[in-house]
Amino acid sequence: MSERHPEGLHFVEEGRGEPLVLLHAFPLDGEMWDAEKKELARSHRVIVPDLRGFGKSESLEPRRSLDDHADDVVRLLDRLKIERATLGGLSMGGYIALALARRYAARLSRLILADTRSLPDSADGKKGRNESIALVASEGVAPLVERLLPKLLSANATDPVKERVRALAGRQSQAGVIAALAAMRDRPDSGDVLPRIAIPTLVIVGEHDAISPLAEARAIASGIPKAQLAVIEGAGHLANLESSARFLAATRRFLDA
Ligand code: MLT
Repeated sequence: MSERHPEGLHFVEEGRGEPLVLLHAFPLDGEMWDAEKKELARSHRVIVPDLRGFGKSESLEPRRSLDDHADDVVRLLDRLKIERATLGGLSMGGYIALALARRYAARLSRLILADTRSLPDSADGKKGRNESIALVASEGVAPLVERLLPKLLSANATDPVKERVRALAGRQSQAGVIAALAAMRDRPDSGDVLPRIAIPTLVIVGEHDAISPLAEARAIASGIPKAQLAVIEGAGHLANLESSARFLAATRRFLDA
């Protein structure tokens, strides 16, 4: 089933059972979760939105803050009449999951924080975002994707995985990518949220993640009272795309526990 309503997000939904919402990374869209959706739909009602400005939500006015994206996700839950869901997010999806944990804790039953950060951008990081915004504004999305690729994937990534990331990222709109870069640049420090997350949480990280490194994932897991950490051996930042079977196994263990 796939649905979009006039003001809301495009999303796909598969399976029955406890709701599980998966939020995608930057600069991708919901299709990055295709393998997880297929497998996890055997036991869960899996809902995968395209965040505003991305994928099939591209024509909706892009969001300027991660809180706005969090509001969109809550509106989607309301529309689907879902009181509480397990929420998973990878990287930018994880930033939005943390924004939800801050403002909408009662709507979450469990949390999966994959390859993400609780820290804000450093001064250098913000400068890099501004350079990326200028690059995308003048030359489009493709040069940014080439610049990001070595950070998004580990040195072990296969050519088909690289091509998949190029294809997913390369089709995103300039406006959506620019808005998301600004929203990530301006995101707050989520460190204060971690000790207040009272639900079971899985922190997943690719062993070679160059954007949200293992040490930060460890700090997130030790900051959340009921968190466990899964390290995806050999994988980089987009750990589910690089090592789908290991990522799924860790997620499955958590969801079945
Ligand atoms: C992502 O994968 O969503 C982004 O790389 C996160 C970021 O740039 O901070």
